[in-house]
Amino acid sequence: MHMQLVVAVFAVYLTAAYSQWPDELSRKSQDSVKYEPTWESLDKRPNPEWYDDSKFGIFIHWGVFSVPALVSEWFWYTWKTGNKQAQDFMRTNYPPDFTYGDFAKDFHASFFDPVHWAKVFESSGAKYVVLTSKHHEGYTMWPSKYSFNWNSMDVGPNRDLVGEFATAIKNQTKLKFGLYHSMFEWFHPLYLEDKANGYRTRNFPDAKALPELYEIVRTYEPEVIWSDGEWEASSTYWNSTGFIAWLFNESPVKDTVVTNDRWGNETRCKHGSFLTCEDSFDPGQLLPKKWENCLTVDMYSWGYRRDMVVENLRTAAELIEALTRAVSCGGNLLLNIGPTSDGTIASIFQERLYQMGSWLDVNGEAIYATKPWIHQNDTVNPHVWYTQSKKTGLVYAIYLQPAKKNITLGAPKFSKLTTVKVLGGPGVLKWTLDEQGNTVVKLPPRDELDDTTVWSVVLVLDNLKNKPSEAPPRITMSMLPQVRSMWRDENPHKQTRKA
Ligand SMILES: *[C@@H]1O[C@H](CO)[C@@H](O)[C@H](O)[C@H]1NC(C)=O
Ligand SMILES: *[C@@H]1O[C@H](CO)[C@@H](O)[C@H](O)[C@H]1NC(C)=O
Ligand SMILES: *[C@@H]1O[C@H](CO)[C@@H](O)[C@H](O)[C@H]1NC(C)=O
Ligand SMILES: *[C@@H]1O[C@H](CO)[C@@H](O)[C@H](O)[C@H]1NC(C)=O
Ligand SMILES: *[C@@H]1O[C@H](CO)[C@@H](O)[C@H](O)[C@H]1NC(C)=O
Repeated sequence: MHMQLVVAVFAVYLTAAYSQWPDELSRKSQDSVKYEPTWESLDKRPNPEWYDDSKFGIFIHWGVFSVPALVSEWFWYTWKTGNKQAQDFMRTNYPPDFTYGDFAKDFHASFFDPVHWAKVFESSGAKYVVLTSKHHEGYTMWPSKYSFNWNSMDVGPNRDLVGEFATAIKNQTKLKFGLYHSMFEWFHPLYLEDKANGYRTRNFPDAKALPELYEIVRTYEPEVIWSDGEWEASSTYWNSTGFIAWLFNESPVKDTVVTNDRWGNETRCKHGSFLTCEDSFDPGQLLPKKWENCLTVDMYSWGYRRDMVVENLRTAAELIEALTRAVSCGGNLLLNIGPTSDGTIASIFQERLYQMGSWLDVNGEAIYATKPWIHQNDTVNPHVWYTQSKKTGLVYAIYLQPAKKNITLGAPKFSKLTTVKVLGGPGVLKWTLDEQGNTVVKLPPRDELDDTTVWSVVLVLDNLKNKPSEAPPRITMSMLPQVRSMWRDENPHKQTRKA
């Protein structure tokens, strides 16, 4: 055990020492590390490089809740706990003895074309996908041995939805495949019994949650395990560290998999390969550990809602802003859409994803395989966020407003050798200093700029004089619980229809 610890510490040292370490070296040091089923040991595992380099993934909330497609993916729970819209809907449209389980036979997925989904997600510029394999309703989207008659093969589509989607992603795209999995189930009798016992019994995790996790990893080899539904009980109840130690030491994806932080009521914003803290998490500052903002296009739901209107959707500009802010601060963006029970993706969601793709086609070099710069945001211009290429060291200033005549920057210190270019625009740009000593970069006329500059302008800066010592104060892991998300719940750009 002592020996293993030394090896683990050495591996961490190597990760710190080389930003791009030779493949051979990383594989060797990885092979010799055995992680203990403790958070202390599991947190020492270096993340596989692909996850940090990807920056952008697609989250897909799909399940039996897509059949009522009302209120949110929490429909069952809200119906049973007094939500008026859910109760009125059920009273008006269904007989009194209708159960939530009865919705499953109407989950047809008749138009589910996994190859089309794969192409849409690839066109968005995302580098990974995360599908709900099982939400809090307990219905498994694969033919699980542990969910008899409450899975997508036995009732509903009569198809292995997870398997078909996994094959399409793996065969047709370069995207990484990931799965969401809910630990608890609102109404599972074994879970409710453990809960009534104050979680002193562990029948539900042993008979259901854990066997399912091993089953999906062995069958579909997902490279992201996005856990959720953990918050009512400790990670000891769930035996999360036992599972993750297996995932990192022995599973078929041990070298490439990443997991989030939702593994028990004491683990969020602390443990795992990356932190999610809360939904729509946007700290607005550099965090001491890799993190991810999971954000849904429909502001009010993760699952599809039939009564969704366009004013409920985040705009392309807002989504580009969320991605930029996350990447500048060491995070990724996991952007969610909810497909219909027919298996289609609403055209408005497809359009948002294509808009992200068109922006990334032009501006992706400021996002993918970048790292946080010395400054995350500008000192005088509230619309500018920075990233830096891992490979070339070039600094990107991402101005999150439509192109104007010029852009003022306070943080970068220009040298005589500094040149400024704009992505999707011509040549080298002129710049001057204003009376305050800030740099004013002159932009070419709009007709010489790419169309994506209606959302943002990305400047490329080289040969700057900035020194790492001028970095603003950084927060530490122990300060993390105090960090609040800055993402606005109210949409300030809410589209209003003009007469
Ligand atoms: C996926 O690709 C593998 C390897 O090329 C092939 O054997 C398999 O038949 C493909 N599956 C589908 C469903 O296309
Ligand atoms: C976490 O869950 C355990 C049961 O597993 C419970 O005893 C404990 O009080 C919970 N802690 C918090 C902070 O809610
Ligand atoms: C937790 O999981 C590990 C790995 O599967 C296993 O060895 C251990 O016995 C489990 N612990 C409990 C309390 O079930
Ligand atoms: C950005 O930077 C300024 C100072 O340079 C700081 O006061 C501000 O809080 C930062 N964060 C955000 C989210 O604007
Ligand atoms: C920048 O553009 C604004 C108008 O958008 C103009 O008033 C200002 O003089 C310009 N500054 C410089 C230094 O060109």
